[in-house]
Amino acid sequence: MEKIEVKSSAVVFENIDQLPTDDKALMEKAIEARAKAYAPYSKFNVGAALLLENGKIILGNNQENAAYPSGMCAERVAIWKAGSEFPGVKIKKIAITAASSTTKVNKPVGPCGACRQTLSEYEINQKEPMEVIFMGEVGKVVKIESLLHLLPFSFDSSYL
Ligand code: THU
Repeated sequence: MEKIEVKSSAVVFENIDQLPTDDKALMEKAIEARAKAYAPYSKFNVGAALLLENGKIILGNNQENAAYPSGMCAERVAIWKAGSEFPGVKIKKIAITAASSTTKVNKPVGPCGACRQTLSEYEINQKEPMEVIFMGEVGKVVKIESLLHLLPFSFDSSYL
């Protein structure tokens, strides 16, 4: 028998103003994207901003649907936009933020499991880490140096 330890670490900032300048600018773009989310059912607006290695910033937000499972998360809207418009261009960072019209979201909102899986494929393909930065509407901001740190023992194409 062998025991394996899985470790991941994050840097936590007190608020958006404590972020390094470029990360703060990206998070501000995610906030802009969040404001345009289409979330009439959950009232939970999520925004995502990706920084590509060519300097482009790609935005996405959640798009809900009356047939609930047909809706889509902000992160996947953004990454598919990037993948479709700029195939093969590396993604340096993703910033994510969420706000609700029914409660104050004051804790950092990380990407859901399906988004982690989707994002992992892009990080693996690009062979370079994708930083993940996330927050709620206010309060602490979490920064993780690699998406795969959020998804240990992940499934990838090597199993197929
Ligand atoms: N949502 C996201 O956009 N990203 C996540 O990582 C978690 C959840 C959206 C989906 C749905 O529109 C709303 O938040 C409530 O779950």
